[in-house]
Amino acid sequence: MLDSLDQAISLIAPAKINLALHITGRREDGYHLLDSLVVFADFGDRISVERSAADSFHITGPYGHSIPADRSNLVLKARDRLREEFPDRAFPVSITLDKHLPIASGIGGGSSDAASTLRALIRLWGISIDPFDLDELGLALGADLPMCLNGKPLIARGIGEKLEEVKRIPRLPMVLVNNGAAVSTPQVFAAVKKRDNPGLPTISGLGSIHDVCTYLERTENHLYAATVDLLPTIGDTMEALRSTSPRLARMSGSGATCFAIYDTDEAALAAESQLRNAHPLWFVIKTHSGAGGN
Ligand code: C5P
Repeated sequence: MLDSLDQAISLIAPAKINLALHITGRREDGYHLLDSLVVFADFGDRISVERSAADSFHITGPYGHSIPADRSNLVLKARDRLREEFPDRAFPVSITLDKHLPIASGIGGGSSDAASTLRALIRLWGISIDPFDLDELGLALGADLPMCLNGKPLIARGIGEKLEEVKRIPRLPMVLVNNGAAVSTPQVFAAVKKRDNPGLPTISGLGSIHDVCTYLERTENHLYAATVDLLPTIGDTMEALRSTSPRLARMSGSGATCFAIYDTDEAALAAESQLRNAHPLWFVIKTHSGAGGN
């Protein structure tokens, strides 16, 4: 066991972006098999944990009012699950979730919050846990937990738990847009019509933004058609993004957040400003994804 730290620990819970998402089958339990190229943004929620006399949980931030602060929140599920495994280390904690990502929006907000809660509490409580066991513990909370615990550019397969890091992928200037409509992930998956698609083309040579976009043009998000059926206004989001002349625009995960990739940060900033002017009530954020290691 490591020594526990008494100071507060604060970690970003980054937005997860599915650059491409192919549905390749369905398991007997109903979960879908997928093949997804995933990156993480430098923008997200924030999780802060601190030793306290009694457990507490506070939610702040622009989207804080939209989620429950009770035990149905994945943050508390993550705390309780880790405490079950390490009851002797798990002293009471005060947890704050600063919520900046729209709710139920396809960029992994809840999963990323839970993953960052686990990572923060592991440090605060001085726990040492095998990465494989941590992934297993995370997977029990949600299919996207292992990828969010990893936090680097990767290919996710299986139902999202089989991870392969993608090296040498560049940092991608991006804009994320959500028009305010939430869409339910289980409903989207249930509405998918074709489930036996080919996996992603083999990845090689993603050295430049041009290479990444050329590769992505050969891929799709197979959840898009199902999301449009449930939420036709997502077409407006895509149209708005396309009007900024990006290298590529697409929906992330089950939606309804969409992203666009630009050649430069300046182009992404100009797109952010154009979209904010045209749609002042939408969530519009200029960000960039993290680069892959060597
Ligand atoms: O695992 P998680 O709770 O995040 O998934 C939410 C829902 O999305 C699942 O209950 C399932 O209906 C659907 N899902 C799926 N296949 C996946 C991931 C999620 O069908 N690979």
